[in-house]
Amino acid sequence: MKTKIILDVDTGIDDALAITFALGRKDAELIGVTTCFGNVTFETASRNSLNLLDLLGRSDVPVYAGAKGPGDESEWQVREHLYRIHGNNGIGNVELPVSKRKVEEKKAWQFMAEACRKYRDELILICVGPLTNLAKAIELDREAVGLCKKIVIMGGALTVKGNVTPYAEANIYNDVKAAQKVIDSGLDLYFVGLDVTLQTIITGNDIMRWKQLDNEKAGKLYEAASYYYSNEFEVVGGAMHDPLAVEAALDPEIITEWFPVNLMVEQEGVTKGRMIGDKDLLNEPRKRIHYGLKVNGERFVKDFEETVLNVIS
Ligand code: BDR
Ligand code: CA
Repeated sequence: MKTKIILDVDTGIDDALAITFALGRKDAELIGVTTCFGNVTFETASRNSLNLLDLLGRSDVPVYAGAKGPGDESEWQVREHLYRIHGNNGIGNVELPVSKRKVEEKKAWQFMAEACRKYRDELILICVGPLTNLAKAIELDREAVGLCKKIVIMGGALTVKGNVTPYAEANIYNDVKAAQKVIDSGLDLYFVGLDVTLQTIITGNDIMRWKQLDNEKAGKLYEAASYYYSNEFEVVGGAMHDPLAVEAALDPEIITEWFPVNLMVEQEGVTKGRMIGDKDLLNEPRKRIHYGLKVNGERFVKDFEETVLNVIS
């Protein structure tokens, strides 16, 4: 049986690639996309997700809009440097055909909680944006969220420098309160952070076969991916942060070391957003966080390229 998945995104180029990758997984059924502020505003994340799903012929996948800013309390101002990474429209300035669809009426967190109650251990939640929507789903119905098979989060930088500050990774930094609420829920959490995503970098060579396809889907996806890998780290390539979280959810062995640990999130000061061992829980034998430290990057890049190729062919 296919595993049902919900992808919580701030679409974003690597989010768009994660959606595409998820659609290509034979072992998964994407039952919904939930959106959040982050790389872009939540409106743009919703629009990009709808446009992309329709372009890929998957207008059957519903999109639920979520938080507009940290705690869903204030409007989000997109940080200047993000335009360089994701383009002015979040997907590398690539114009996707405009979907006629709208987001669903239900809020992202309602959908998440209801789906968890309905599908229980048939469902995995994969969160690849700030953790606001997940925190709100937990607030709404902690018991329901606890019924799902697994929660996988793209977030954190434990053994490497952060990407927003030297201490913090973007998804955690963008709503530190939400991240701590999610941790405080006592649920088991699987974190795919920069420690591993920076080991899954793509360059033009890796996706050459996408370029050779002669159709609109492939053209748009290739263009967005090339914007990302030529801009994020200039020469080195683009880290597949969000697609790796999808892979780790469905095939946890891609992460060759999951570190069991109890972490907390620093809430303020220069270290705001840093995830660090929670000393109050140091002697607690039960470790709730499973933090990815090592990855089979080569295998991932191959699987990813091939799976996306099938979707866009
Ligand atoms: C994470 O932040 C976002 O910019 C990316 O889409 C990814 O989810 C990387 O820190
Ligand atoms: Ca993201």
